[in-house]
Amino acid sequence: MTTVIKNGTIVTADLTYKADVLIEGGKIAQIGEGLKGDKVLDATGAYVMPGGIDPHTHLEMPFMGTYSTDDFESGTRAALAGGTTMVVDFVLPSPGQGLLDAKQMWHNKSGRANCDYSYHMAVTWWGEQVFDEMKTVIEKEGITTFKHFMAYKGALMVNDDEMYASFKRLAELGGIALVHAENGDVVAELQRKLMEDGNTGPEAHAYSRPPQVEGEATNRAIMIADMAGVPLYVVHTSCEEAHEAIRRARMQGKRVWGEPLIQHLTLDESEYFNKDWDHAARRVMSPPFRNKQHQDSLWAGLMSGSLSVVATDHCAFTTEQKRTGVGDFTKIPNGTGGLEDRMPMLWTHGVNTGRLTPNEFVAVTSTNIAKILNCYPKKGAILVGSDADIVVWDPDREKTISAQSQQSAIDYNVFEGKKVKGLPRYTLTRGMIAVNDGKVETKEGHGEFVRREANNPVNKALSSWKELTAPRPVKRTGIPASGV
Ligand code: URP
Ligand code: ZN
Ligand code: ZN
Ligand code: ZN
Repeated sequence: MTTVIKNGTIVTADLTYKADVLIEGGKIAQIGEGLKGDKVLDATGAYVMPGGIDPHTHLEMPFMGTYSTDDFESGTRAALAGGTTMVVDFVLPSPGQGLLDAKQMWHNKSGRANCDYSYHMAVTWWGEQVFDEMKTVIEKEGITTFKHFMAYKGALMVNDDEMYASFKRLAELGGIALVHAENGDVVAELQRKLMEDGNTGPEAHAYSRPPQVEGEATNRAIMIADMAGVPLYVVHTSCEEAHEAIRRARMQGKRVWGEPLIQHLTLDESEYFNKDWDHAARRVMSPPFRNKQHQDSLWAGLMSGSLSVVATDHCAFTTEQKRTGVGDFTKIPNGTGGLEDRMPMLWTHGVNTGRLTPNEFVAVTSTNIAKILNCYPKKGAILVGSDADIVVWDPDREKTISAQSQQSAIDYNVFEGKKVKGLPRYTLTRGMIAVNDGKVETKEGHGEFVRREANNPVNKALSSWKELTAPRPVKRTGIPASGV
C-alpha cells in the first residue's frame, strides 16, 4: 500500500519546489514529477512540509500537587490536529528517584501516543546514582538531553554546584544541557513578599517573575555551560533580557540555543489583569507573558536566527485545577496548552505578517530542533528515506480557535477567539493519515519512541575546541635551581 501526495509545493528549511511525494512503509520512498500510488492525497494550492516537532511538552506530568490533564493520547491527538508529528516530553524524577526508574514511569504512560515521541531527562537532584545513570540513559536509552530547573525552589530546583557537576558530566558523555532559567531564590522571596502585602491574585504571579530573574539565570547558565564545555539549550525564552544573553553568547561563538514559545510570541501580560480570576489563572505559567517590547524582541530573534525553535511547553490544567490557587497565587498550577495551535498561530502571526518566510517557518517548527536533537533527517526533512511525518499545509484554510472544537482535554483555550489562517489539510504520522481533509483520524498507540544518539555535530565541534584550548603546562627550558 503506497500513498502519493500530488500537485503540492514542497517547502523545507532551505528549498521550495513543486514535486509529488511517494510514501511506502512509513517512509518517503520517492520525490519527483508524475508519481503514482495506491492512495492519492491532493495538495493543489498547498505546501508539503516536514511535520512539526514540539520539543517541550509535559503530558500527564505530576506537578504542584496534581497531574497535567492532557496525557499522551489527548496531547498527541492535539499535536497532529495542528500539524505537529513529534513531541519531546520531560521525564521528571522525583527527589531521590533514579533516572531509569523515572524513565520507566514515563514509558508506562507514553504507550498511548498517537504520534512519535522522544524524551528529555530532568536532573532534579544530584548524587552518585544520577551521575552513574546518566551514562546508561544516554547510551542505552537514547535520551541525550537533560533539563535543569533553576526555579521551583524546594521542589525541582538545582543549585549552581549541582548544575556545574551535571553539565560537566554531560560534556563528557556528549549530551546537551537544557535549562529552565529563572532565579528561583529571588522568585521565592518575591512570592513571599507579595503574599505578605496581600497581593494574592494571579497578577502577582507575573510580578514575582520579572524579566530580570530570567535574564540573570539565562546568563548564569550560559557561563556555567561554557566553563563546563557543554552545548546549552534554553527553554521558554520569554524576554529581551534572556534573549540578549543568548544573542551575546552566540555572537561570541558559544554554543547556545533559545526557544521562545508560541504563547509568549502572541499573548501578553495584560491577560493577568483580566477582572475574571479564572481567565487570568488559566494563563499562569512560568515565565509569565510579557509586554509588547519583549514580544518584538522574540520575533526579531526568530527572524535574525538568534532564537532557533518555537515550542509550546504544553502543560494543560483544567479550570478546577487552577482554582487550587484561589487566595494564594503560588498554588496555581503553572502551565498552559498550545500543542494544537502552535503551527497555525505561528503561520498566521509569522508568515502571514511577513515576519517569517515559509522556509523559516519550517526551520523553527521542525528542522532546527531535529538537528539539535540529532534525529535529522529521520525527522524534520522531506527527503527520500526520512520518516513520512508530513503536513500538507493549506494557507487558505481558516478557523477561529475555540475550546468547543479543540482536541485538548481541558475546558478552555488560552487562544480562544483568535482567528488563524493556515491549517493542515492532511497530517501524516509515519505515513498514516491522522488528519484527513481537516478531519482528525488518529490511532492510539501508533506513536513510537524516537531514540537519539549523543555527540551531535555541535557537541563534536565544541569538544574539539575545548580540547584545543584546555589548560596545559608550559614546557620550559630554563628551570631555576630549587630554593631560588
Ligand atoms: O509554567 C510552566 N512552564 N509549567 C511547566 C513546567 C515548566 O516550567 O516548564
Ligand atoms: Zn520550565
Ligand atoms: Zn476570559
Ligand atoms: Zn516546561
